[in-house]
Amino acid sequence: MSTFPVTRLRRLRRTSGLRGLVRETRLDLDDFVLPLFVGPEPQANPDLPGMARHSVDTLDAEAGELVRMGVKAVILFGIPDEKDEEGSGAWDDDGIIQRALRALRDRHPELVLLTDVCLCEYTSHGHCGALDGDEVDNDETLELLARAAVSHAEAGADAVAPSDMMDGRVAAIRTALDDRGFEATPIVAYSAKYASAFYGPFREAAESTPAFGDRRGYQMDPANVREALRECELDVDEGADMLMVKPALPCLDVIRAVREAFDHPLAAYNVSGEYAMIKAAGSKGLLDERQAALESLTAIKRAGADVVISYWTKELASWL
Ligand code: PBG
Repeated sequence: MSTFPVTRLRRLRRTSGLRGLVRETRLDLDDFVLPLFVGPEPQANPDLPGMARHSVDTLDAEAGELVRMGVKAVILFGIPDEKDEEGSGAWDDDGIIQRALRALRDRHPELVLLTDVCLCEYTSHGHCGALDGDEVDNDETLELLARAAVSHAEAGADAVAPSDMMDGRVAAIRTALDDRGFEATPIVAYSAKYASAFYGPFREAAESTPAFGDRRGYQMDPANVREALRECELDVDEGADMLMVKPALPCLDVIRAVREAFDHPLAAYNVSGEYAMIKAAGSKGLLDERQAALESLTAIKRAGADVVISYWTKELASWL
């Protein structure tokens, strides 16, 4: 191998044109999914600037604008009017997500509609499943998640994304979807979802902070990567169509490991805390938000993600 002075890596960095020719990773709007919050009333969301909560009515105009800007996909999160012990709003045929899906499905057929399948926004205690004492009962929860997933498919979801981290939920949802004639509905599994401190702003926005305890009894320990591969393997065996790692920036090594071990399409969730930190630093003038966002999103793609769920998706549409 030749070395300096024959080799000078700076030669191909000299101009923007040269850098563009040798760039290894590019951002393409086709790979991005924008999270959208929908609740009974529109509401500002100071913790996630630019991500105000919509009502079913205002969602329609927002979706129209997104489509015009070139955004291809959204993932919907619902904040119900009322919560209960079981989280029954999650599968209510007239629930917030189901109404949002019906409205969007008819009016914006080209927009890809993903739904987050979880109970934490719908339960009075804020945990992701049914409680048995102070613990989330895994097997009881499976049936509830399956009901939610089927109701989303019925209302027009293009894909369902379970984020609860119960064991066996992909299989339970696959069986339920198939039994109801939704064998064509894909499952995007939040396979390696960590018990992360970076979900804080989301929980404020979605009103899903657990009333007691935390989620460490079901979400993954951030110290583990081999376990993430086992989670992915189980989800693949249970019929997941796409895998996901979440959060993204603290888990770039996990994204890379999953990319190398599996051929399934891989999503990464650039979560609320990752976004809010850069927004806050940008608004203080500590860094350039746009540059920091583009660098973050590029890093997530470079690590091996095919699909990125990001709160920057709408801004990205205007940047690209
Ligand atoms: C629901 C869910 C959460 C997020 C996505 N789906 C919150 C949680 O698990 O506590 C977090 C997304 C984000 O922080 O942007 N379980």
